Amino acid sequence: MFKCSISKASLQAIRGDVLVLSLFENEGISDPLMKEIDQRLKGWIRQLLKNKEFRGKVHECEWISVPTGLGIRRILLVGLGSKKKFWIDTARRVAGTAAREITRKRFKKVTILLHGADGTDVSSKALAQAVVEGTAIGEYQFETYKTEETSHRRTKIQSLHLLAPKGESLSALKTDAQRGLILAECQNQARDIINTPANEITPKRLTEIAREEARRWGFKVRVFDLPEIKRLRMGGLLNVGRGSENPPHFVVLEHAGRKRNEAPVVIVGKGITFDSGGLSLKPSNSMETMKYDKAGAVATLYSLVAAARLKISQRVIGLMAIAENLPSGKAYKPGDVVRTMSGKTIEVLNTDAEGRVVLSDALSYAERYNPKAVIDIATLTGACVIALGYDAIGMMGREKDSNEIKAALKKAGEFTGERVWELPLWDEYYDAIKSPIADIKNVGNRAAGTITAAAFLGHFTEKYPWVHLDIAGAGWLEESKPYLSKGPTGVGVRLLTQYLLDLS
Ligand code: BES
Ligand code: ZN
Ligand code: ZN
Repeated sequence: MFKCSISKASLQAIRGDVLVLSLFENEGISDPLMKEIDQRLKGWIRQLLKNKEFRGKVHECEWISVPTGLGIRRILLVGLGSKKKFWIDTARRVAGTAAREITRKRFKKVTILLHGADGTDVSSKALAQAVVEGTAIGEYQFETYKTEETSHRRTKIQSLHLLAPKGESLSALKTDAQRGLILAECQNQARDIINTPANEITPKRLTEIAREEARRWGFKVRVFDLPEIKRLRMGGLLNVGRGSENPPHFVVLEHAGRKRNEAPVVIVGKGITFDSGGLSLKPSNSMETMKYDKAGAVATLYSLVAAARLKISQRVIGLMAIAENLPSGKAYKPGDVVRTMSGKTIEVLNTDAEGRVVLSDALSYAERYNPKAVIDIATLTGACVIALGYDAIGMMGREKDSNEIKAALKKAGEFTGERVWELPLWDEYYDAIKSPIADIKNVGNRAAGTITAAAFLGHFTEKYPWVHLDIAGAGWLEESKPYLSKGPTGVGVRLLTQYLLDLS
């Protein structure tokens, strides 16, 4: 990750290869430093605006060569779009666009003038954080398996220098920028792990990564292997994992927080390192991306890393339910009845609806903490992609006890740009998963697939306030966005960490 520094905006403070200046649509130049720079450029920027060669449309980019004497090689103008539509994620996204543009041109050292966001409801502190996050998230590339230097590959940003508007406390902005850097790094590390394929990241390997991160950042970790999973009678996790040579695992993470015996927040993640569907085999094209079925567990892990690195005062437990869903002579079968840790029985009608089955045991395990809130995060249903697409996380919970958590997640979603959207989880939806021979079955009919999956989880979360997040859509992009490459997004890490920060 790059180094980040900050100073007051002045001509002398500009450094590096590229200076990024951002402009709203139809607003002209108001920033005093930008005016000064434009004078040095003999009114070039004003001319571009006047001729409508640069309009400030959102994500619009324009390179300007710079005469010597300004201490940089190029200026990059980027459009922020209309001021009316501006929100904090616009800043994050536009910073991402700039980062990709800059690294494509193989520049490495960047200065960004934080534009005044006056006339919008975004504070300079929030802006500093968002710009750092957007730069780091936007420049992300997964390079682990690239062995050949090719000319089209982008460089990495080495340093980011922020120029702060007059009258802002530099030390406050610095704290926010630093937090942004940590959060973005956690998100990018999550993306690396999710991107790493299933031949490398087996259930066991994922537990080792959890161990390494826990040791590095000083939080507790405990790994349960197959005999321990059997001893705990986690029949759900056990049966999903049975078809694979790589046995299932269960990981417990703990960030102590400040108060020893405080009721914790528990985060529960679905960690299917590969989802073939099992005997209810997926068509091969649907399997291509299923290494990302571990995204919930990985988001859980990196939320704990972030909590530890940011020294969040709230106590947090992370639970990762990890298995590989494969068909074999040992695999669980459609029609099997599975006894879960809670004692409840599940009639498995589709072995591809495995996420809810592994989560059932993890959610029961959460009871022992008397948690103040449990949030599970999972790439749970294809139906969620159909319902909400790639821009929203599906959120569900019982009306009775989840309203406070849902409201807090909505707020954290608006701030982080990882927005949640609620689907109803009324009692009526529980009817779809009644089983004639067991307590419940693991699939409903085709209707409301995302909600009936949540209803299934609802059977295992009766003892505490609980919210379910379905990241099947937001967790993986089929097409890249201007600021986010296609593939895993690492969604959830910043959302959950922000939720924890807001509690503290
Ligand atoms: N991991 C998938 C969900 C998924 C599908 C995520 C596509 C992202 C893209 C999950 O285990 C699954 O296969 N769910 C089934 C449930 C069905 C059998 C009731 C699905 O969504 O098709
Ligand atoms: Zn599945
Ligand atoms: Zn799955």
